[in-house]
Amino acid sequence: MYPLRRNRRLRSNDAIRHLVRETFLTPSDFLVPLFVVEGKGVKEEIPSMPDYYRLSLDNLEKEVKDLWNMGLCAVLLFVKIPDDLKDNRGSEALNANGLMQLAIKAVKNACPDMLVMTDVALDPYSSYGHDGIVENGRILNDESAEILAEMSVSHANAGADFVAPSDMMDGRILTIREALEDEGHTDTGIMAYSAKYASAFYGPFRDALDSAPVAIKNVPKDKKSYQMDSANRKEAIKETQMDIDEGADIVMIKPGLCYLDIVREIRDAVEVPVAVYQVSGEYAMLKAAAEKGWLDHDAVMMEQLISIKRAGADIIASYFAKDVVRLM
Ligand code: PBG
Repeated sequence: MYPLRRNRRLRSNDAIRHLVRETFLTPSDFLVPLFVVEGKGVKEEIPSMPDYYRLSLDNLEKEVKDLWNMGLCAVLLFVKIPDDLKDNRGSEALNANGLMQLAIKAVKNACPDMLVMTDVALDPYSSYGHDGIVENGRILNDESAEILAEMSVSHANAGADFVAPSDMMDGRILTIREALEDEGHTDTGIMAYSAKYASAFYGPFRDALDSAPVAIKNVPKDKKSYQMDSANRKEAIKETQMDIDEGADIVMIKPGLCYLDIVREIRDAVEVPVAVYQVSGEYAMLKAAAEKGWLDHDAVMMEQLISIKRAGADIIASYFAKDVVRLM
């Protein structure tokens, strides 16, 4: 081949590199996770997530206006619930005037066209920090799925455009879809966390929401009986296919970087949009290394996000969304 083909010709300057570039990021790729707390005027930095905050409803309204002006048009809401409102069944999740329901309304009030997605899982509401009801040393499946369906209807009633079940109970997508249809919410979408791994990268998120699983007799202090084993690949395809069959509109793989092989495989295997969640631990690692001066924050951030998109992500949930758009 040499010298007929000198591949470096296509890399010799910015203009040619730009011309032949295969992957681009745009603001519309991003879904912005937001953490909501009770109170007024609250903007608390999350210790393990530098530059990321828990916001009260008034500040949430300000934030979504900012996001909208930057071209970021979709948010994913999470709430931090005070301990005294938590119980094993996550009852507070169904409160029509609960924090999530108020947050949905606040976003729509501040920014009516912002796409609102909501996290659907029991853990922020659970006194045990689990994504389902705990009974006799087990996390109940079908009973938990029923509550998730009621929760989804409650979010749709409040105005959510999409619900995003992040729990990994079996059959919950169908249970949720049926409940939404029964209540007339035929236009409310489901973004399923389909291949969600039992990952140690969720640590900072659990700090943010104070939602880590607690020690209970006979119950492991982890989520391995419902979230997936990081060693498994074929199971990810099965989980994703089943969620689509049950009615998922968008499927998600989570975490991001360690699972890009799964992202590519799922992108090639299914026809629905594929989302990837670059999770809290991925954010924290880069922030920490940059703080020490060991990595170039912006360059590494861009490289990671481009890689997620190149692997096949149509949508990226990322705590870096604003940082990236600022650099565009
Ligand atoms: C709740 C949920 C978690 C995350 C998203 N939804 C934590 C968990 O499953 O324990 C993690 C997100 C992140 O780490 O950024 N079920």
